[in-house]
Amino acid sequence: MMKTYLSVIRNCKVAQRWSFSHATRCAVSPSPFSSKWNCKRLMVRRLGTDIPTEDRNYYITTPIFYVNAAPHIGHLYSAVTADYLHRYKLLQGFNSRFVTGTDEHGLKIQQAANAAGQDPLSFCTKVSERFKYLFKSCHISYTDYIRTTEERHRCAVEHFWTVLQSKGFIYKGNYEGWYSTQDESFLTPSQVGDAKDSSGKEIKISLESGHKVEWMKEENYMFRLSEFRSRLQEWLEGNPRAVQPERFHHAVLQWLQEDLPDLSVSRQRSRLQWGIPVPGDLDQTIYVWLDALVNYLTVAGYPDSHSQWWRAAHHVVGKDILKFHAIYWPAFLLAADLPLPQTIHVHSHWTVGGKKMSKSLGNVVDPLERSQRFTIDGMRYFLLRQGVPDTDCDYDDDKVVKLLNAELTDSLGGLLNRCTAPSLNPAQVYPHFCSDSFPSQGTESHKGRAVDEDYHMLDAVRALPAVVEQHYESVHVYKALEAINRCVRQTNGFVQRHTPWKLGSGDGRDQLWLDTILHVSLECLRMYGTLLQPIVPEIADKLLSRLGVKPEEKSWAALNFLVKYQGKDCPFEGRALGPDTGVLFNRLERPNAEKGKPKKAKKATKVKS
Ligand code: MSP
Repeated sequence: MMKTYLSVIRNCKVAQRWSFSHATRCAVSPSPFSSKWNCKRLMVRRLGTDIPTEDRNYYITTPIFYVNAAPHIGHLYSAVTADYLHRYKLLQGFNSRFVTGTDEHGLKIQQAANAAGQDPLSFCTKVSERFKYLFKSCHISYTDYIRTTEERHRCAVEHFWTVLQSKGFIYKGNYEGWYSTQDESFLTPSQVGDAKDSSGKEIKISLESGHKVEWMKEENYMFRLSEFRSRLQEWLEGNPRAVQPERFHHAVLQWLQEDLPDLSVSRQRSRLQWGIPVPGDLDQTIYVWLDALVNYLTVAGYPDSHSQWWRAAHHVVGKDILKFHAIYWPAFLLAADLPLPQTIHVHSHWTVGGKKMSKSLGNVVDPLERSQRFTIDGMRYFLLRQGVPDTDCDYDDDKVVKLLNAELTDSLGGLLNRCTAPSLNPAQVYPHFCSDSFPSQGTESHKGRAVDEDYHMLDAVRALPAVVEQHYESVHVYKALEAINRCVRQTNGFVQRHTPWKLGSGDGRDQLWLDTILHVSLECLRMYGTLLQPIVPEIADKLLSRLGVKPEEKSWAALNFLVKYQGKDCPFEGRALGPDTGVLFNRLERPNAEKGKPKKAKKATKVKS
């Protein structure tokens, strides 16, 4: 078995090595003006030829969402995070698959369906459709939507179970311990604390989630999780970027120092009917987390041909479900002799009014309503601009309005508006760049009008793709957007500094300089539009279309900034601009004090359920 394990680890490392070297390339890819840039261009070109097709595959997943309640803003955040990664990889020339869906089995769902007086499947279908509708509405461009109640998934789970059992990792035992139905999680005594419920009754809760736990004693099937401690440690230590950001990587290693008992992987059918029966034992139902995690394999094609996608798997997960993804899931995969995921991207949570969202507090933010109010791209931008993977973020409508008005309406929209205005650009073309007006730095030219700050701006915009790539790769999107926004401000400063509207058309040299200012500004805008595509696809498309950029010129490989400055031909020069379809992003009204504020949270009790 050790031999097999080593080969798994080896395979896994080979796969990861490629991904790291790719990420490193991205992180260090410098400006288009240096020789390293050419090296990067070669790499991009290589993606199309030398690298075997399966190494160009990228497989990104969201967690599958519980259907016991309606979607909220936190769910949309998980989905938008995976969506931008998918879009970004496509722009880089990868074959990307992106899966999301719903987690429909388990006690929690069984109880929710009972409480609603509905049969579980109809109940699940209704809520699953709500998630699907939300995702479609918010342009979540998934390529597969999975429901764990589907037949293809049952086949995959049954097969997976049989493999684990045939390899001796599942045995029948007696489970006795704490269980949280809300988290569908087993807990050790050290993870449980005392609390009082709303009626003052003493109860036990999970220290991590605050949810109520109950003592459970059942004959179950157990998984030999305890055997995997050192293998998991080896995996994490050998792959320091397997769980990101770093603090979550450390957290998992820390957990692995603690107690790691075998895991109960089934429930008695008499208690849990809503789930997949254990193959060969109809008195037991498979534990919902084992069932749910296998969804990632199901969509990759398991148990049939799946490795071309499975070896390129990356998961996006919230911090509350890290243990399931970074301990249970890799242990199951090792037991089944399957490669481990490449990366687990962890994000923190959205709170509202400083508190966790919950129905009982009345502070749940409806993502569909907000994306209608603030627009789809507006919400996508806000979530990714404000969401910080390492720490929780507080949602506030007023913050949304201020941020979008400042960065999308005024800064980016204002820049586009200025530089394409018929008053400055009556011919409505991409104007010519005059290298005498903006000579390369160090060139002796008395006619040049560019000043030091203009050269600094060029440096910043040149370096921007590398900066953005680095932050997109590590899912520090806010840093990428911060960097883009800084450059947008610099470009606005450039225009403001040279007041092109004051340049009289009578003077030929003035006209050349005016055209150059516009050319440089449009080149900057083209970079911003291209880089923003994964985040705000509609806005980016509107911007690029206004600049006359063709669909085949929107890829990452087309991020070659201001080639005229290097004395090369620019394909855009002299080209007609696209039609003016109105402002880039309409100014939003500040919500009035009462209407905009999320409902004041009712006094919280310590217990969540
Ligand atoms: N069904 C499991 C996942 C199984 S994956 C094999 C589950 N579902 S969930 O609906 O509760 O959560 C889905 C995702 O939403 C998780 O990544 C979770 O962290 C995320 N969020 C739930 N509440 C959130 C916030 N308040 N903020 C941000 N994300 C949040 O867990």
